[in-house]
Amino acid sequence: MNGKIIKGDNLKVMSKIKDNYVDSCISDFPYWLEFMGNHWDKGSPYEWSLDRARELFRIIKHGGFVLIFGHAKTNHRVKAAFEDAGFNIADEIDWLYMTGFPKNQDIGKLFDKRAGAKRPLSEKQRPIGGKNGVYEGQGGNWGETINEPQTELAKIWDGWKTTGLKPAKEPIMVFQKPLEGTYCNNIEKHGCGGMNIDACRIPSSEEDKKMMNDKSSKNITSNYSDKEAKIYGAFAEDKAMPANELGRFPMNIITLDDQFWFSKWANPFPQWTDQELSKKCMTKEKTLLDGTKNTHPTVKPVELIKWLIKLVTPMNGVTLDITAGSCTHGVACEELNRDGYNLKWCDIEMDEDENGKSLGYIEIANKRLKAI
Ligand SMILES: C[S@@+](CC[C@H](N)C(=O)[O-])C[C@H]1O[C@@H](n2cnc3c(N)ncnc32)[C@H](O)[C@@H]1O
Repeated sequence: MNGKIIKGDNLKVMSKIKDNYVDSCISDFPYWLEFMGNHWDKGSPYEWSLDRARELFRIIKHGGFVLIFGHAKTNHRVKAAFEDAGFNIADEIDWLYMTGFPKNQDIGKLFDKRAGAKRPLSEKQRPIGGKNGVYEGQGGNWGETINEPQTELAKIWDGWKTTGLKPAKEPIMVFQKPLEGTYCNNIEKHGCGGMNIDACRIPSSEEDKKMMNDKSSKNITSNYSDKEAKIYGAFAEDKAMPANELGRFPMNIITLDDQFWFSKWANPFPQWTDQELSKKCMTKEKTLLDGTKNTHPTVKPVELIKWLIKLVTPMNGVTLDITAGSCTHGVACEELNRDGYNLKWCDIEMDEDENGKSLGYIEIANKRLKAI
């Protein structure tokens, strides 16, 4: 194994790491929303992140990247902390997973509950779907049984819900320690600073490649200068590029799913069928070698972490995860090393409940690593 797990508070552990030593850090921070009652998911996002960002700024090489998974409700505080510590906000990648559940309460029901009004079940049924949303009759697409609002306020606010949409994406903040001089100077001196786009391209189908090549072969030389085209965004079609054999330039949106209309632009793994994909993303993360389960509440897909590591880390670089959980990052590094990379990695995890007792995360991580 070319890396290790260190148990402890990440601030203390990072204080032992040399200045300008690390090429990348990819971490899934707490959300500070007390997610599933976890004690490590409490506190102040800004103060917590500022301390960590300052230490990361010291140990990351010039031009090196820090990628942090966040939450729409708190990631602005994390961004402010990293900016205040000296990092540049380089981008934000949206990971679209689409399978979250809305957790809203029904406002009409809340009004009835507050008034102590019981709702009798109604015989009436509401159609959901069917052709043009119209009842299709017996055997058609019938919806759930609804129970009628009772109080005046419940009738007015029927159909309204408490705030929030169905969660379908997770932002990944991309921070970069400023370059020392130009890209060339920085990369020559520190060995990092760019993104490995070719390693992370989105494969295109033969049909897509043909479409792109046909378009580019019809390039017409326009009378407009490049400058005008850039300003007005016009004549993009005149400039169509032939297909890149390695695939499309990756976007700041990523999905591991093949069933969405945008998948061909955003899924780096289209060669997998949906079944293989869910096997890869569930079995690998959730089932351990001895048949027990990975019970960490926020496990990330290994393939996604591998893609992120490849994007921002040289093949023989040093990469960290300072909130490692069940060490998906370490597992991803070991798999990449098996496939020709030579990464050195370190995963830091506190693994403690509020009484200092182990939550079993490192034990799970060791089982995952042993399985490789
Ligand atoms: C969101 S989880 C990461 C899960 C991980 N992505 C995985 O796939 O298993 C965040 C982890 O950070 C750990 N953590 C929180 N505060 C920490 C600290 N100060 N030092 C080290 N680890 C910490 C928690 O114990 C938790 O397991």
